[in-house]
Amino acid sequence: MYRNIKSAVVGSINADLILQTERMPQSGESITGTSYGHANGGKGANQAIGLARLGTNTKMIGKVADDENGRRLIDNLKKNNVDVSCVATDGSQTGLAAIILDGEGKNRIIVYEGANAEITPSFAADSITDDLDLLLVQFETREETVISAVNKAIEKGITTVIDCGPAKQFALEKMQGATIISPNETETEALTGIYPESNDDILKASEILADRSKAKFVVLKLGERGCSVWDGNSLRIIPAYKGEVVDTTAAGDCFTAAMALEFIRSGDIHLACDVGNKAGCIAVGRMGADASMPTAEDILNFK
Ligand code: ATP
Ligand code: RIB
Repeated sequence: MYRNIKSAVVGSINADLILQTERMPQSGESITGTSYGHANGGKGANQAIGLARLGTNTKMIGKVADDENGRRLIDNLKKNNVDVSCVATDGSQTGLAAIILDGEGKNRIIVYEGANAEITPSFAADSITDDLDLLLVQFETREETVISAVNKAIEKGITTVIDCGPAKQFALEKMQGATIISPNETETEALTGIYPESNDDILKASEILADRSKAKFVVLKLGERGCSVWDGNSLRIIPAYKGEVVDTTAAGDCFTAAMALEFIRSGDIHLACDVGNKAGCIAVGRMGADASMPTAEDILNFK
């Protein structure tokens, strides 16, 4: 389905430590967990594996340290057919995410950026080659690095998708004219000051994001409500699919990878968002980060 597409991801590669508990602890409170496990994560790596699993040719642009986690994460990218020739391995410490997962599958995450914060703007920009059809970025690496990669891709006419996770303020004005900008609800609030609750809020926030970034499409990820699309003229809500919720971690990464590829294949942003919703629903039904990513077959067979 997506075999002829060449894509690249500039972003983070993290070792995830997932601790499960019935409910989140309050400030100052210590509670008992029910289980824990280690997983391969990082928004960048998750999205790269998401693209590769959907069948596209994918290059990861990032950095890990020459330590145990770094070696394991690189092996895992390779096992998932991601090209790691642009992953540097001389970082200080490999990035780490401590994820607390509650009984409803909802999470809270603390990220130690480590090597991810050492990807330089020039390294990222130099890795964006003419043969690419798609660039995906997130905000889990240095702001200047994201800006430099996006501007290089825009200059080369490459379809560029900006996933705005994790939630933070960001100089969107410094990267004008990407194809799609896509924050989730809390990221939308961090960037616009508006939490996208009502359709009116969704529209106002989308207009602000379009105005600040000059992106062609604004796609808000709205969790169990699905997503919204603003194309500068009309707003459409594309409803989510219903499924079991086991772990919402990386649902957004999965959505972004699938939505971006389907957009390149079909050129239809609404169809692309529907495919993103299918991928997101599959992801919330599975435990872990990269392990949640579906194949093209999973999406075709999804009901
Ligand atoms: P993450 O947990 O990775 O940070 P996110 O907050 O970035 O995720 P969400 O908006 O929670 O992103 O989810 C991304 C997409 O996954 C949604 O747009 C939707 O398509 C799908 N999704 C999320 N939660 C559910 C759910 N409970 N039921 C069905 N689909 C869901
Ligand atoms: O989006 C999910 C990811 O966020 C996790 O894999 C974790 O590494 C954090 O970066």
